[in-house]
Amino acid sequence: MYEIGFPKKVYSGLDSVEKLPELLDEQKVRKVLVMTDQGVYPQAAFQKVLSLLEAYDPMCIHDIPPEPSVYDIARVYEEARKAEIEAIVAVGGGSVMDMTKMVADCLTNPEYVEDVQDTGRIQNPPAKTFMIPTTAGTGAEATPNAIFLFPEQNLKIGIVSPAFVASYVILDGKMTESLPASLTASTGIDALCHAVESYISILANPLSRVFSRAATKKICANLEKAWKDGSDLEARQNLLEGAFLAGVCLTSSSTVAVHALSYPLGGKYHIPHGVSNAILLEAVMRVNLPDCREAFTELAPLMLPDCENIPKETWPEAVVDYMGSLCRRLQIPDSLRTFGIEPDALDELTDNAMEVKRLLLKNPRKLTRQEIRGIYEGLLR
Ligand SMILES: NC(=O)c1ccc[n+]([C@@H]2O[C@H](COP(=O)([O-])OP(=O)(O)OC[C@H]3O[C@@H](n4cnc5c(N)ncnc54)[C@H](O)[C@@H]3O)[C@@H](O)[C@H]2O)c1
Ligand SMILES: [Fe+2]
Repeated sequence: MYEIGFPKKVYSGLDSVEKLPELLDEQKVRKVLVMTDQGVYPQAAFQKVLSLLEAYDPMCIHDIPPEPSVYDIARVYEEARKAEIEAIVAVGGGSVMDMTKMVADCLTNPEYVEDVQDTGRIQNPPAKTFMIPTTAGTGAEATPNAIFLFPEQNLKIGIVSPAFVASYVILDGKMTESLPASLTASTGIDALCHAVESYISILANPLSRVFSRAATKKICANLEKAWKDGSDLEARQNLLEGAFLAGVCLTSSSTVAVHALSYPLGGKYHIPHGVSNAILLEAVMRVNLPDCREAFTELAPLMLPDCENIPKETWPEAVVDYMGSLCRRLQIPDSLRTFGIEPDALDELTDNAMEVKRLLLKNPRKLTRQEIRGIYEGLLR
């Protein structure tokens, strides 16, 4: 049996944010909380959302930290609780959307805030959420995951609950127009990792694979275009849809070793999520290659439209090469040394990655400790 989940409703298209007042009326919402961060707040696209919400007595929290820690949740929840709001509109990337999921559940389940890893404490449905992603991206608008830094463990941990799935999603490419090129690149590679990892996961299934393929094609056809010319709204819209579809895959399948090895890099060295995934992508997939030949052969025409010109038996290698060269063309850092990581960190990184069993157990290849250490070591270039 397979299972795949969607938000209640998804609207997609340029200017689709204009639908927001109608959706709030449909839900009889009179007071909203708008959550965003300091990078998104000054952007014209955000200010437009705020003006659309004038009639709903909006309270705005605009300082959600990037890649938030579990300790940030209580503070944001306290502010939201005092305001007695009925729904949350999240305008931002994964950081803002993940915080929104948490706060929406804490508002209706106050005891949940005491231990957010214990999702069994969520007994009541969350406050309504309206997710408007501004990166393309984590796909957090589609997933049942919320990822937070746990400083004591030097690790980022994904908390999973069906109660985190958004009520409404609005995919408006104009909301991503102001995203700088470097963030377009790294967040886009995060989306590509979701699409490809979910395709090779041992949880991959006929339903999730439909979405993985569609996401892979849209992301690969549009990521470089949106990176080169941020005002190419057609590419922006397509990329945003690709990232969303890749998020849908994660409701049915899962990420695997790229994300597993990425968490310790985010946890201790604060490498942004998309960047750490990009650094790891080619190296992890090369180790996975013997166990993914069939899957990579299937993905090749979606990534490399001219692969018909090379022998089919070389397509798996071409797919792995493409993933590495794409990250380099997008000028994402490709060495762990850029982030101050030296050889003496290798053992701890390996130990921490081996703890991310939730994802490693779903990798198509059972990675040994030596292989994981070797991947990190190879990236100290
Ligand atoms: N819940 C999930 O399913 C899921 C999946 C993958 C990653 N994540 C988590 O999401 C977080 C990363 O999210 P992200 O990659 O979207 O980045 P982010 O939300 O941390 O944002 C990165 C930066 O981009 C800026 N920004 C975002 N949109 C902008 C725009 N349109 N214009 C200008 N600046 C903009 C922000 O201000 C911020 O400084 C991490 O904590 C990661 O672990 C969650
Ligand atoms: Fe991710």
